[in-house]
Amino acid sequence: MNKDMDERLDQAVDLLNQGRLQEGKDASSLVQDRLRMIEWNFTDRLNSHTVKAIHPYPAKCIPEIPKALLSALPMPNGTAVLDPFCGCGTTLVEAQRLGLLSVGIDLNPIACLISRVKTAPTPLHLDRIAKEVADVARHNHDPIRWHIPDVDYWFKPEIQEAIAALVQEIGIKQKNCSNDALRLALSSIIVRVSNQRSDTRYAAIYKPVTRDDVFDYFLAACRKISRALIEREWEPLLQPLIIEADTLKTDPSVIGMPVGMVITSPPYPNAYEYWLYHKYRMWWLGFDPLAVRSKEIGARARFFKQESHAEENFWDQMRGAFAFINSVLVALGFACVVIGRSKIHGQIIDNAGIIKAVAEEQGLSTISSFERVISAIHKSLNLSHANIRTETVIIFQKK
Ligand SMILES: C[S@@+](CC[C@H](N)C(=O)[O-])C[C@H]1O[C@@H](n2cnc3c(N)ncnc32)[C@H](O)[C@@H]1O
Repeated sequence: MNKDMDERLDQAVDLLNQGRLQEGKDASSLVQDRLRMIEWNFTDRLNSHTVKAIHPYPAKCIPEIPKALLSALPMPNGTAVLDPFCGCGTTLVEAQRLGLLSVGIDLNPIACLISRVKTAPTPLHLDRIAKEVADVARHNHDPIRWHIPDVDYWFKPEIQEAIAALVQEIGIKQKNCSNDALRLALSSIIVRVSNQRSDTRYAAIYKPVTRDDVFDYFLAACRKISRALIEREWEPLLQPLIIEADTLKTDPSVIGMPVGMVITSPPYPNAYEYWLYHKYRMWWLGFDPLAVRSKEIGARARFFKQESHAEENFWDQMRGAFAFINSVLVALGFACVVIGRSKIHGQIIDNAGIIKAVAEEQGLSTISSFERVISAIHKSLNLSHANIRTETVIIFQKK
C-alpha cells in the first residue's frame, strides 16, 4: 500500500470515528481503492509464520486474508475483532499481531484448544514438563481407561495404553499453564499413532508404530509447539476471548465488548465434517464428538442422505449467524466473510449469494464482493468432490 493512501485513510478513519463521515463517501472510496490494491490470490505468498502449523485443521483460512482485511478496513476506535466460526484461530492470531482485542467462537473443542495455544504466552519449561509427563506415563502399564467406540479397530492395544497413560499424567498437571500445550501436542499425534491412513482417509491400515513411539512423537510435538511459540515475531500481549459454543445458541452479551470488525469463514454445507476430522482426538481428550456433530453446521454426511432441506437449513443457520453478528457489530463496523460454493446432489449452491441475502436482510450493506482463487497447494482445502477452485470474499458494513 502506498504511504499517501495510508495517510488519507488514517484521516478518513479519524473523521469516521468523530462521526463526520456518516455518509461514508470519502472513506468508502478510499476503502475501495485499498481493497483493489490487494492481490487477493496471494500468489507470491511465502510460507508464513510457523505457529499456524502446530496442529492440522481442515479448511483453515490463509492468514494473508484477515491480515489484508485488517489493514485495509478502518475499524471504529475502541472495538474488537470477532470470528464467530474461529476454527484454529487464524483471524485471532492476525488481530493479536496488530495489538487488537479479539473474540473467537467455535463449537469444536479442538479448534478452541488450538486457538488458545496459538495466542497464549509461551508456556514456561514446556519441554521439561513434557519429559516429566512422558517419563511417568512410560512406566504406567495400567492407566485409567474409558469407553471409546471402536477403539480396538483404530488403535493397537499398546498404543491405547500409551495414550491413556499420557492423558492421565497430563490431567495430573491440570493446574499448570502448559496443560493446554501438552493436550494439543497429544492431539496432534493421535492420527499418526492410530491405524487411520491419514487425517482425511478413514481406512484402517497397518502402521509399524510402537508404544515407545507414542512418547517420542509426543515429546517431538511438544518441542515443535514450544519452538513455534518462541519464534512468534510478536508479543502475545492481548489474549483473545475464546468461547467454545454453538454460535447460533450464543447470547450476544457474552462477547462483552463492542465489535468493530468481523472476519470469518463459516462452515460450508456439504464441505467438511470438522467433528469427524477430530473425532478420535476428541474422544481421547475427554470430549464428546457426537455432541459436536449434532450442532455442526453443514456436516457433509447429512447431505448424502438425500436431505431435501439442506439449502433451506443453511439459509436458516446463516440467518441466525447474521442476527448474532448484527447484534454485536457497532455502527460503521465491517463484517467480512470468505465462503466457497457447495455441491449438494449434483447441484451447485451459491453460498455467497445466500450470505449476501441474509446479511442484507439484517440491514448490512455489501460494500465489496470478489472471487479469489484457492491455491492448489493449500492442502487443508480439498473440495475436489465439488470442483471448487475459487471462493468469494464479501465485505459488509453496518450503517
Ligand atoms: C471454515 S471453518 C473456520 C476456519 C477458520 N477460519 C480457520 O482459519 O481455522 C468453520 C468452523 O465452523 C465451526 N462450526 C460449525 N458449526 C458451528 C456452530 N454451530 N457454532 C460454532 N462453530 C461452528 C467448525 O467447527 C469450524 O471450525
